[in-house]
Order: sequence, then C-alpha cells, then structure tokens
Amino acid sequence: MKITFYGQNSLAIEVSGKHIIVDPFISGNPLAKDKVDISVLKADYILLTHAHQDHILDVETIAKRTDATIVSNYEIAMHYQDKGFKVHPMNHGGNWKFDFGNVKYVNAVHTSSFPDGSYGGQPGGFVIEGEHKNIYIAGDTALTMDMKLIPMSTKLDLAILPIGDNFTMGIDDAILASDFVECDKVLGVHYDTFGYIEIDHEEAKKKFYDAEKDLMLLEIGASIEL
Ligand code: NI
Ligand code: MN
Repeated sequence: MKITFYGQNSLAIEVSGKHIIVDPFISGNPLAKDKVDISVLKADYILLTHAHQDHILDVETIAKRTDATIVSNYEIAMHYQDKGFKVHPMNHGGNWKFDFGNVKYVNAVHTSSFPDGSYGGQPGGFVIEGEHKNIYIAGDTALTMDMKLIPMSTKLDLAILPIGDNFTMGIDDAILASDFVECDKVLGVHYDTFGYIEIDHEEAKKKFYDAEKDLMLLEIGASIEL
C-alpha cells in the first residue's frame, strides 16, 4: 500500500492495483496547487469524509476525467449521483468489500455541509483494509471515544489523523487518539493550509516522540510505503 500526501486531507492510495483519491482539495490550496497536477491524477475511487470545501473542491474535475466511483455517506453520494457521477453510498458502521479491500465508514465528530450550505449528511472517517495493511483515515474530527471501537475489529498499521487544531483535534488530542486506536504510527494531516491551523512541526514531532509515538509529516507530493 502506497500513500501520497497532497496537502490538507488530500491523499492518494495505491492498493491492489487500484488508485484511490481521498478528499481532493488541491487546486484551491496555495500550498499544493503548484506542486500537484490534478489533470494527471489516477483515480478508480474517490473517498470523501465529508462535504466541506477543503475536502471536495476537485472531486468533479477528477471524477469527470477518470470516471471514478465516489464513495461517501448517503447524502454526499446522492448529491453526486444527481449530477451524473458514479457513486457508492455508505453510512456509519457499514463495511463494503471493494475490489481493492474492505472499507468501513466510521464516526467522526465534526459538521458536513456543502459549500452552498446544503446538507452533507454526518461526517465520517474510513478504515481501509487492503494488501494485509490496515489504515484509519479519521477525516476532520474531534477526539472521540468512538475511536476506541476501531482496534476491537482492526489492528491498524497507520492512523492518518488531523493535527491542526481549531477545526479538528490538535496535537495533544491526536496523541490520545493514537492511544484510542492503538496505533503509534501516525501521519499528520489538516495543518498549515490556512492561518487557523498553522503548527510548529518540530514541537508536534517532539510531543509524539515524548509519548513514544511516531508522527510523520510529509512534504506535499511525498509518499510512504506500508
Ligand atoms: Ni471539515
Ligand atoms: Mn477540513
């Protein structure tokens, strides 16, 4: 499983020969738009945690070109189905075996309206099990006790957690979240994109290190291999 970071919560995942894009917000991200060319990104699936602009901005551009299937909660899936896109609706607690692995849509504590204010259902995260590796993409969320449910069914190899604070968990709560999901290997996301969520990278890494955990902060466009 290969995971590439495109800024904010935007990720590309290659697993079992399939290409997954998560929460594409690239053309509107000043940190990412000159580094990532959305016109060449491969996508068989686009996974969306919730409907906020900083997670869905480039969905239609990418889905039109690639014919990718959009996977999200029921309301977001219907929003895109009505516009003619291929979708796979899910809801919280549900699993589906895709051709690349198993996906579970899990709880997040946040909000989820589309940019025009229309209802985007309840926000979520994804647990993906594929190629004998398991990852948790928390999406935008507060620290929540529901995270403790995840390791009861899945032994995680990586937790992808928001760390930017203000709109989501910050560093200290992300460390607790890492305990809750029983995974000490964390990829930090949702930081630095705007002033509200700028963080001190060295301080963040030191806090994780002091908690005997590993926080990875990838350059935009950089990848890790699990
Ligand atoms: Ni959000
Ligand atoms: Mn966000």
